[in-house]
Formats: sequence, C-alpha cells, structure tokens
Amino acid sequence: MSSDLCPPIATPRASEPEWLADGTPFSREFNDVYYSRDDGSAESRYVFLDHNRLAARWAALPDAPGTLFVIHETGFGTGLNFLLAWQLWQSVAPASARLVFRSLEAFPLEADALARALQRWPVLEPFTRPLLGAWPPLLPGLHTLEFDGGQVSLQLYIGDVREALEQCGADTHPELAVKADAWFLDGFAPARNPAMWDDAVMRRVAALSKPGTTLATFTVAAAVRTALAKHGFTLARVPGFGRKRDMLTGVFDGETAPGPRPPTQTPWHLAAAAPRGDRRAIVIGAGIAGATCARALARRGWRVTVLEADAAPATGASGNPQGMLFTQLPAADTPHGEFTLHSFMHALRYYAELFAGDSKGLSPCGLLQLHGPRDAAALARLAERFAAYPRLVRLVDAAQASALAGVPLAHGGLYLPASGWIVPPAACGRALDHPLIETLPGCRVRALSAEESGWRVQLDAGGMLQAGAVIVATAAAANELLGADALPLSPLRGQITLLPRAALTPAPRCVVCAEGYVAPPHGEWICCGASFVRGAGDFVPTAGEHRGNLQQLQEILPFFDATAVDVATLAGRVGYRASTPDRLPLAGPVPDIAAFREAYAGLQRNARLPIDRIGPYRRGLYVSAGHGSRGLTSAPLCAEAIAAAIAGEPSPLPRRLQRTLSPARFLIRRIIKGQLP
Ligand SMILES: Cc1cc2nc3c(=O)[nH]c(=O)nc-3n(C[C@H](O)[C@H](O)[C@H](O)COP(=O)(O)OP(=O)(O)OC[C@H]3O[C@@H](n4cnc5c(N)ncnc54)[C@H](O)[C@@H]3O)c2cc1C
Ligand SMILES: C[S@@+](CC[C@H](N)C(=O)[O-])C[C@H]1O[C@@H](n2cnc3c(N)ncnc32)[C@H](O)[C@@H]1O
Repeated sequence: MSSDLCPPIATPRASEPEWLADGTPFSREFNDVYYSRDDGSAESRYVFLDHNRLAARWAALPDAPGTLFVIHETGFGTGLNFLLAWQLWQSVAPASARLVFRSLEAFPLEADALARALQRWPVLEPFTRPLLGAWPPLLPGLHTLEFDGGQVSLQLYIGDVREALEQCGADTHPELAVKADAWFLDGFAPARNPAMWDDAVMRRVAALSKPGTTLATFTVAAAVRTALAKHGFTLARVPGFGRKRDMLTGVFDGETAPGPRPPTQTPWHLAAAAPRGDRRAIVIGAGIAGATCARALARRGWRVTVLEADAAPATGASGNPQGMLFTQLPAADTPHGEFTLHSFMHALRYYAELFAGDSKGLSPCGLLQLHGPRDAAALARLAERFAAYPRLVRLVDAAQASALAGVPLAHGGLYLPASGWIVPPAACGRALDHPLIETLPGCRVRALSAEESGWRVQLDAGGMLQAGAVIVATAAAANELLGADALPLSPLRGQITLLPRAALTPAPRCVVCAEGYVAPPHGEWICCGASFVRGAGDFVPTAGEHRGNLQQLQEILPFFDATAVDVATLAGRVGYRASTPDRLPLAGPVPDIAAFREAYAGLQRNARLPIDRIGPYRRGLYVSAGHGSRGLTSAPLCAEAIAAAIAGEPSPLPRRLQRTLSPARFLIRRIIKGQLP
C-alpha cells in the first residue's frame, strides 16, 4: 500500500474469537489461543514485563517532566499485555512520567469479546473498565486513548502490521520517528501466522528501535531469530513460562542491515528537530484550538503561557453558547475522510474526559443528519459503507428519527448516537484550567521573531515574551503573524440564532441537522444556525441571517412556522470561521517558505520526483488554524499531534495524516504549479 492510501473502511475488521471450554479466546483463522490456557496473565507478565525488565527500569526513571517510556506491541489481541503493563506502571513509575503504549492490531475484538476475555482477572478491573469505556468503533487507523489523566496513552493502530509500522515511520526517515524503549512481539505462533514475523516486519521493528531497546517474545522460531539478529538485535534464549522450554529476549545494538528504503514520495511533510529550550511554550489565541494545544502540552509537563487578544478566552468563533460535534462520513477511503472520522472519535473521548461528572458542559444526546428529498440514496449508500460500525452511525427512517428526536420529522437519515453538543467556552475554560497553564487575556501579539534560543513574541501593548516553542492558534488572523500569505486562510462569517425556548414546542431531544442545525434547549434558549458569508466584517447579527437560519429550521422541523417569528426580537451571535481551500485544518510546524522553494524547486518540472529532503520548517513554530465549521471536532486531535511533535513523543497521527494536515501542503502545490514568486 502506498503511504498515502487509506485502508478500506467498508471491510469489516472485527474478529470473532471462539471460546474454549475454560473461557480462553481462540482464533479459528490462526488456530491459536490469544493467551496461555495455563495462566494467561502470569505468562504475559513473565514473558513481556519481566523480560523487558520493566519494573526495574520504570522504578529508575527520573521523576521529572518529560520522562517518557514507549512500548511497541505487535498484536493487541485482548489487551491483556497492555493492562498488565499499565498496572505495573501505576505501581512503580514516577508520577510525572508518561507511558505511550503503541499496539498494532489487524483484527481487533469488539468490546463485548474484550470484556469476556478479560473478565477472568477481576484484579485488573480498575484498568479493564476504563479501557472498555474508551474502546472505539473499530475503524482502521490510529486511535489514541488517554488514561490516568494523560499519564498513560494507548495508541492502537487498527491495520496490518506492515502498514502500521510504515505509518509509524519505519520506512521513510525512521531517524525522525520516536523509537521504542521496549517491544512486545506477540502475534500468534509464527508457524501459523508467518506474515506477522517475517523479515520485512523485523526490519521495521529494528528501524523503530534505538541502542538499548529491549524485546521479549514467547517464540524462539529460527526464522524470527535469524531476522531479528540480521537487523541488529543481540538475542538470548531464556527459560520459558511454565511447561514451555524457552522464550526469547533481545537488545538492539544499533547496527541495522540493510538500511531503510529510499522514499517513494517527497517527504516534505517530515520535520526535523523539536524545539529548543526549557519546556516552555507560548500559545497565541485562547479559542478551542489554542486551549486544546495548551492542555495537551501541560499534560506533557510543559509550562504554557496563553496570550489572548480579547478580554477573556473563547470570545472568537469558539464563543457560541452551544456547539455541535459534527462529522461528515466520507464516501471514499481518503486521508481527508480518515482525519474527519478519527478527529470526531477523538473529540468524543476528549470531551467525555474533560467534562467527566459535569453534565452542563457536554450533552452526548446523539445527532441526526437528515436527508432531503434528493440525497436519500447517497445517505443510504454511506450507511451501507459504515454498516460494520453501528456504534458510530446507523440509518434511520423518518419514524425512527422522529422517535429519537422526540419531534415529528419528515425525513430519516444518519444517526450518530455518541455525538451531541458542548458548551465551547466551558470547554476552553476547562482545558485552560491546569496548574502549568497561565492565561493572559488582553494580550494581543503584534509580531514574532526567531532568535538563537527560540521565539520572541512581541505584544501590542509593549513588552515581549520568549519561549522555545510557539503555537499560533489565532484562526484566520494567523497570517498576520506568520507572513503576508503564508497560509491560505480566509474568514467565513457565521451567525447563530437563539430562539426563546417557548418559541419551539416540542423541542428536539438530540441535535438535528440538514442544511442547518438545531440543538436541544440549553437554558432559556434554543440554538439554531448557521449562516455562511465569505469575508471579514462586523459582529452585529443581521435580520437577513436570522431569517435564513429560521428557514433552515423550518426545513428540519416542518411544524415550525418561520414566518410567525419576529426576527427583530431575536438574539444571536456572529463569529468568523477560518477556512482553507480543502476544508481541512492546518496543524503542524510552520514551513520556511524560502527554504521550501529552494529545496523542492525540482517538483515544478516533475511533481512525482521523490526529492529525498525532509521539510525545512521553522524550528519551534507551529500552527493550529483553519478549523472551518467543525473546529470543536478537529481541534483536540490536532492539539495532540502538535504537542506530541513539540514534546518528542510518538505522533497520534499516522504519517499519511501528518502529510494531509501539514501547513506546508498548499505551499508545495504552489511550488509544483510554479505559482511561487
Ligand atoms: C456561527 C458559527 C457556528 C459554529 N458552529 C459550530 C459547531 O456547531 N460545531 C463546530 O465544531 N464548529 C462550529 N463552528 C466553528 C468553530 O466555532 C470554529 O472552528 C472554532 O471555534 C475555531 O477555533 P479557533 O480556536 O481556531 O478560533 P477562535 O475561537 O476564533 O480563536 C482564535 C482566538 O485568537 C485570538 N487572537 C487573534 N489574533 C490574536 C493576536 N494577534 N494575539 C492574541 N490573540 C489573538 C482571538 O481573539 C480568538 O480568541 C461555528 C462557527 C461559527 C462562526
Ligand atoms: C496472541 S494475540 C495477541 C495477544 C495480546 N498481546 C494480548 O495481550 O491479548 C495475536 C494478535 O495478533 C493479531 N494479528 C495477527 N496477524 C496480524 C497482522 N498481520 N497484523 C496485525 N495484527 C495481527 C491477531 O489478530 C491477534 O489479536
């Protein structure tokens, strides 16, 4: 698979194990058990934890911000290894350290099978419960689940092992990938599943290792030993668990053979060094993009100063009293669609954790995307495509939709049961509420300049601040700081209408969308929207935009009479989305335009020429902007990706999505088309 192609969504992935008489899950396809029938948890502990010496290594980790330990596992299976590792981490690792456990799995188990497989270890229940609570719809790609307030991060890549390792950076410029500290090699037995253990896989395992990386596996198969030794591991056979004669441990000594393959595409999306300095960052802009970035960095032990021009956070587009958690199900397997889906699933988990125990900030009431008379067939095709993911979406007819919404609806459509709405200012406030974050309202940034140790940030009111890392999260105003036309961001005005609650009876119980949308009542208001008007302007609601919103509301709720409302009495709010030509955000390091022009001039003659030079980005300078009309959904995953890049952690984005979201993508197009002066 080429590195830009996405695995097909429509192919069901979930594996249905058989259950042996003693309750052990068994794979018919591979004719093997998921864990030992003797004492699965004792064997897992013995093989993977003990023989990677995790207890001793973790106890010796410094209790200092930035301490990171990375485990890579081939074969997530029931998650038993992960849960045992997490349990051990909690008991021995220092409080400030972070564990990133990245596991690759081609045939994941559904939540009920996972629960059944793990129920035999009640002692693991405090870990099993949150894992099941966060268990995602099994879409292909990389899912990041955060536990223990972010101290433990599970990155679960659903896909074949080779594709997964490639997307983690094993093939192209692996020196830029964050390497494993320890490997759990746990596919089914090599004789029954050779593809999981072959030379090509072991080469990638080595490519994602560094001197001192350890590995452990239950197998001592000759082919596995040969491949691991060839690619740089010094191996030892040691006694196996219980009745098993032996097992294998290894240490990577840094000598790989043969080296990584040359890239098949120009790696302009790959950036080199992380920021300089002392784990201090400045975030400019306190909307949802800036607030999520600040939180993601603070969780990694960074001190963050958030500079906001306005008198308070969340006064720009992120200031609406209600915001819907939208997504658009993709009709094709593209990176665009993959980001749309994964950012949506990530946002649902993010807000659930952010608002845990606070029903005022988040309502997971479900969301209906109604079809009109013309697009019923298209939505039905989409529902068919996603038939394997009923926890994500299902097709409903008009009667079912009406029952779900509690109001009469003329059409059916797609129902997303886990979606709903949030209070965006509360989401920003909560995200910023962290001891390592200082928010400074009333601080408009005038200019940025690079210096030896990082970035100098000049304030409008005089004075300046410095930090090794700066994230610009100022929506369409990003260009004011990053250079005249560095990024193709344009403002897109939007107005919501707030109807008094009594003006709509009955009111919907879930979010209902068609051309516009309406949310369930919140306080005294019912929020519907929104207008789209190109360009910048004022913040005064107009009667015309109210009328448009009411007309859209009437199309959703035929019993509502838009003409009966006096628009002069209505409340509303205006904001400006920042849009990009491809309707995806810009999330990542900021390109150095002159250096890009020079490095990739050859693409103008031949766009397919693989120029093996990584992107010349401005060290320590990042942007999260262009979130368009779905920023509440897209911002949290972008923030994780940027914070991981800054902190030198494994990215929550596969390499193909790093390319898709790269702030340099439009610049590259301009270079190819010869449009750059
Ligand atoms: C009417 C309307 C309805 C919407 N409904 C939804 C919805 O239901 N669901 C959804 O997901 N999305 C919705 N959106 C889109 C969503 O609001 C945006 O995508 C999101 O809020 C963008 O967040 P942001 O942080 O990038 O920008 P903003 O929230 O605009 O934040 C940018 C911040 O940067 C500050 N700033 C700018 N320049 C400077 C400077 N030089 N120095 C310091 N600070 C600066 C600004 O004051 C502002 O606070 C809607 C948008 C509108 C307009
Ligand atoms: C023995 S189980 C792993 C057990 C697991 N570590 C645990 O703690 O339960 C092996 C896993 O490898 C997965 N697998 C098999 N072939 C694969 C492939 N080609 N790519 C990725 N995963 C694969 C299987 O679906 C299975 O879940």
